[in-house]
Amino acid sequence: MRQPLIIGLGRAGAGLHLRALRTALARSPGLWHGPVVAVDPRPGERAPVPDGVTVTATLDEARALLPPERAVVHVCTPPAARLSVLAELAAAGYRDLVVEKPLAADAAELAAVTELVSRYALRVAVVAHWPASGLADRLRTSLASGERGRLLRIDVVQHKPRFTRSLRPDDGHPTAFDVELPHSLGLVLSLAGPAETTGARLTDLRIGETVRPGLGSAVLDLLHANGVRTRIHSDLTAPVRERRVSLTFERGTLVGHFAPSDADDHVQLDADGRREVFLDDALASFLHRTYTRFASAEEPSWEAEFALHADVVRILDAAKRRCAADTVAEHDEEARRAVAR
Ligand SMILES: NC(=O)c1ccc[n+]([C@@H]2O[C@H](COP(=O)([O-])OP(=O)(O)OC[C@H]3O[C@@H](n4cnc5c(N)ncnc54)[C@H](O)[C@@H]3O)[C@@H](O)[C@H]2O)c1
Repeated sequence: MRQPLIIGLGRAGAGLHLRALRTALARSPGLWHGPVVAVDPRPGERAPVPDGVTVTATLDEARALLPPERAVVHVCTPPAARLSVLAELAAAGYRDLVVEKPLAADAAELAAVTELVSRYALRVAVVAHWPASGLADRLRTSLASGERGRLLRIDVVQHKPRFTRSLRPDDGHPTAFDVELPHSLGLVLSLAGPAETTGARLTDLRIGETVRPGLGSAVLDLLHANGVRTRIHSDLTAPVRERRVSLTFERGTLVGHFAPSDADDHVQLDADGRREVFLDDALASFLHRTYTRFASAEEPSWEAEFALHADVVRILDAAKRRCAADTVAEHDEEARRAVAR
């Protein structure tokens, strides 16, 4: 039976993952056994240290308690440290990894992660609980049934006020593309298939004289190979939280409201104006499915899943490069105008 090793005891590790692991175990006794071991050089700094977890300061200490063959490793460190943590884990012999989104910060880092995965035969599950949710299943089932005709477009809204976190110098998320979009992008690619970026926009977060470039809001426009168009809009300066996915068909609409935070596990589905509410603990379901897959030696789906998340990183990287090019062009234009005045 497998035993969890959590790297990074912050909001994701000490909060979301631990709670979801316990929920999954309550549903399926025998899914894993404890104690949960954790590595964090500064435990308690970002989130209270939870009860029942054996905390160590280094991977070497953790390895003495929990060797690679028994461990499922949860990588819950900020994205900026992702590659170094994965490299250290691979070199120490750990193979089965649950990695927080985003898988990599850009295309160069993705190439390095891909190299690690193939060199060490890593089995990587990227935390993408939106595609694994019951709500996503309902959207997929309706889409597959064809009951509303052809899918025309997908609109996603992922708004939340994220000021305190974005103002922290060590936040580790380079832009607003890296915060919420990895969840929704995985979902829209799983619904409508491969896509190309047709538009991208970032705004800065500004409070008084303080500016955090690129951390205000993000808009991403996609054209899927099957002709469906998607727009994802994430405003991290919004006054309220909202996580909504709207599917517009030839004959009707489906609107899924994902849980706005981990404070409630209920989701809502509005089908042509009729609203339904149901319990959908997507992260616990995702971990349940992932531990079950790790238990099987013959599980074939690791490569396909990795490819989907590699696509997410590639699309976000292309979007960020577009925005950087637009910023340079705007600065050039401003400089030209200043010279002309
Ligand atoms: N799936 C979700 O819904 C969700 C929600 C929140 C965060 N996240 C993702 O989880 C990741 C972590 O975010 P967070 O909000 O928990 O961050 P956080 O800042 O709250 O916590 C990060 C923790 O990692 C520790 N840490 C840093 N470097 C380390 C290292 N090399 N080894 C061990 N520990 C290390 C820090 O001391 C800190 O305790 C991010 O990629 C974020 O995008 C996902």
